[in-house]
Amino acid sequence: MGSLVNKRILLGVTGGIAAYKSADLVRRLREAGAEVRVVMTDAATEFITELTLQAVSGYPVHRHLLDPEAEAGMSHIELARWADAILVAPATADFLARLVQGRGDDLLATLCLATSAPMAVAPAMNQQMWRHPATQQNVDSLRHRGVQIFGPGEGSQACGDVGPGRLLEPAELAQLTAGLFQTGVLDGVTVMVTAGPTWEAIDPVRGLTNKSSGKMGYAIATAAAEGGARVILISGPVSLTPPDRVETVPVVSAQDMFDAVHARIDQIDLYIGVAAVADYRPVSVAPHKLKKTADSMNLELVRNPDILASVAALPSAPFTVGFAAETNDLEMAARHKLEAKRIDLVCANLVGGDEGGFGADENRLLLVDREGTTELPLAAKSRLARDLIHHISRKFHAKNRTQDTRRAHRR
Ligand code: PMT
Repeated sequence: MGSLVNKRILLGVTGGIAAYKSADLVRRLREAGAEVRVVMTDAATEFITELTLQAVSGYPVHRHLLDPEAEAGMSHIELARWADAILVAPATADFLARLVQGRGDDLLATLCLATSAPMAVAPAMNQQMWRHPATQQNVDSLRHRGVQIFGPGEGSQACGDVGPGRLLEPAELAQLTAGLFQTGVLDGVTVMVTAGPTWEAIDPVRGLTNKSSGKMGYAIATAAAEGGARVILISGPVSLTPPDRVETVPVVSAQDMFDAVHARIDQIDLYIGVAAVADYRPVSVAPHKLKKTADSMNLELVRNPDILASVAALPSAPFTVGFAAETNDLEMAARHKLEAKRIDLVCANLVGGDEGGFGADENRLLLVDREGTTELPLAAKSRLARDLIHHISRKFHAKNRTQDTRRAHRR
């Protein structure tokens, strides 16, 4: 089963009697670990109050497309970008029809147009309306576009009819929503991810390190696990909770990371080096805290091993992905790393600016390989990680197919 831990779910509530179940749905999603923001259509407010959904979600409800106050806080585009997934429950026949048409005449419909996140709708309506060919055609066309259809259930309805059209129960909807993140793109693959900074000790209390928080690497490890992979995360010192269903190996220095990587590298099909590994370490570590005696001091440094290059140079190297943290000339630097380290793909990001990079919750990436470049625009690191895992899985499977074909020709 998938997990909703740390997932950002945008719940759209449209105007049907089943809207009264939305409060319980928000509660279930939050209990499963998700952060939930609610968007209501005008009609939904006839069935359940904004205040109720604000109280259970812990955030103000979003309602209007052209609301200067809301746009100054989290604009509709930011909200669409914020969501890891959109669930519309209940979804009325009218809303399904508007979604099919790609209408942008209220906030919820606009968000559905403006997002690239996975989307699901949980239809709820009278059984006759559900069976109507127009509704069935709409549902087919949404399914065709990749929208997941949750339900509806069957049984007695608020209007007295019996048949299909009931909103699924909140517990089941929460479970199905978790399943949205299970992509299966890396089923059967073993992935190693390195994350966070390294700490190069100077003495027992001081050391050389950098500002990596581990967020990007942890998000990638999570996305790989959601893709069905077995994941080993080699993590420098960070203050993040180890992701679910990921074997996390804590390390401190670059040499520790090198050793932990190579101790397990024979099991690995795909290596993703996200860690900000210190290039140098002090030649020696003082056994006791250094005293402040002289006005200046010299620290002699020695090169650390390059973990990424060492993995790529193995005779049966895994598919190898590296990161490049640059302050300028992103593509040029990425191409240089691609060739110098002889790796399969470089994910380049700008660091040291106002957005993205070290410590931030969002990032943007330029993916560079021998076939070209792909831009992944600014998004939450969790979203970006999922898009990146999709991209990497396509490249990984394509390379394996080519190698299989070559092997078959040689036989
Ligand atoms: O952790 P966050 O706060 O979320 O920030 C994310 C990040 C900015 C740290 C991440 O997106 C990133 O860019 N990671 C790589 C940082 C880095 O050290 O880049 P680099 O250009 O110095 O190194 C290039 C590649 O070589 C990296 O894949 C790195 O893991 C690897 N390397 C570097 C040195 C070394 N001795 N061994 C290595 O394996």
